[in-house]
Amino acid sequence: MSTQQDIFQSIISHAKEYGFVFPSSEIYDGLSAVYDYGPYGSELKKNIRDHWWKSMTQMHENIVGIDAAIFMHPTVWKASGHVDNFSDPMIDNRDSQKRYRVDHLLESYAEKLAAEGKEEEREALLKQMDQLLVAEDFAGLKQLIESNKITCAVSGTSNWTDIRQFNLMFSTQVGSVAEESDTIYLRPETAQGIFVNFLNVQKTARLKVPFGIAQTGKAFRNEIVARQFIFRMREFEQMEMQFFVRPGTQMEWYRYWKEARLQWHLGLGISPEKYRFHDHAKLAHYADAAVDIEYEFPFGFKEVEGIHSRTDFDLKSHEKFSKKKLQYFDNDLDENGKPFGNYIPYVVETSIGLDRMFLLLLSNSYEEETINKEDGTTDSRTVMHLPVKLAPIKLAVFPLTKKDGLPEIARELMNECKPYFKCFYEEKDAIGKRYRRQDAIGTPFCITIDHQTKEDNTVTIRYRDSMLQERILLDKVKSLVEEAIM
Ligand code: GAP
Repeated sequence: MSTQQDIFQSIISHAKEYGFVFPSSEIYDGLSAVYDYGPYGSELKKNIRDHWWKSMTQMHENIVGIDAAIFMHPTVWKASGHVDNFSDPMIDNRDSQKRYRVDHLLESYAEKLAAEGKEEEREALLKQMDQLLVAEDFAGLKQLIESNKITCAVSGTSNWTDIRQFNLMFSTQVGSVAEESDTIYLRPETAQGIFVNFLNVQKTARLKVPFGIAQTGKAFRNEIVARQFIFRMREFEQMEMQFFVRPGTQMEWYRYWKEARLQWHLGLGISPEKYRFHDHAKLAHYADAAVDIEYEFPFGFKEVEGIHSRTDFDLKSHEKFSKKKLQYFDNDLDENGKPFGNYIPYVVETSIGLDRMFLLLLSNSYEEETINKEDGTTDSRTVMHLPVKLAPIKLAVFPLTKKDGLPEIARELMNECKPYFKCFYEEKDAIGKRYRRQDAIGTPFCITIDHQTKEDNTVTIRYRDSMLQERILLDKVKSLVEEAIM
């Protein structure tokens, strides 16, 4: 029987073999925690991004999008608190020189306890860790590591240094002359591009509170412990939305977005049992409430998305550092009939990692299936049960043979469909082999054009998940796929 770890390794190999994800600069042995997306990976990633973008900006009349630059004025990161606070407590093992994030080291140990059936000890350890992290009690955290005799996976020793904080932001220089150049940061979150544009957007799009600004784009973090494939990367993509609300209403909106975002995930047909909420014990410097939406990956329940009530921290701080007013004039009337007037809105943020969502979909879709055949024998296939609307290829078109006019009919169908959704054409190999290749990349529909097509204008449609085949009219193919991807 395969363990979850084996399945995860199979998913990583499959992702490479079928053109979803490659290690970056692989011919030079790769670059740790950096990955490239291949032909099917880039399609899937784009489809996830488009689906999120549509659900935010098209389905909500009061949410608009922007595309801010990655480079920002360096004071942005001073004002946002990232220069002073965006760091993780780390500990080094003196013998192996290996550095660990303290929470990861303790969490790995907790997983070990769980695997040994020591559930209560695991719970107690994690609870203690949370309390010490909240109190920023580094001596206490080191004591916790030592009292549990936690060792380094490389050296096997517990020769630990003291715990220190490391900032996660990457910096670089702008300007050609080294002495005169300025240090700037690669953004560690996309959200700040939204905050600094808040009034530009509100005025030009003529928005009234409550309203949202959405953005997708790259973010960069110098993650010390880069693990679990594309789960924790140094260069990754976020899909974030900041929702600006009247002060005092933030908890109402926090609850709204917490539920709305979970429904977005479930709307993709993923089982609710694979999800859970995790309230933050230690809040980020800007938040008064925060919850993670966690998904059960093959390596356990982990965060995919965060919902944060960010108060007025960011706008207030940018107002202070930039000395520019970042206030909104609310001319609606309060219960006394007076306009609410000028204020700095409060913000509820939804923030999801695009790469993590991608990994979630790979993990949720991947199946090594055994097929019981009618003659009593068995066969097997690897299939990706991707949500139909997100699949890299929606329709594969196969002429049964390369002659007798069948390729011409298949090409006509391709030309009819390809302006509307992504199609794939193939003539080579037996039909069964062609089906298997499409199963492996998650193509929901395959069409075979055969000699009967010439007689009665019907084709065979084969469904990925059930493997059922039926004959339908050739001119119904396009509308059938379009309905399925709506
Ligand atoms: N603006 C708020 C913010 O950035 P976060 O919880 O640090 O909050 C939000 O990040 C999401 O970004 C996470 O839920 C995760 O999906 C994704 N993310 C964060 N760090 C990541 C990394 N190193 N690699 C991949 N995705 C990451």
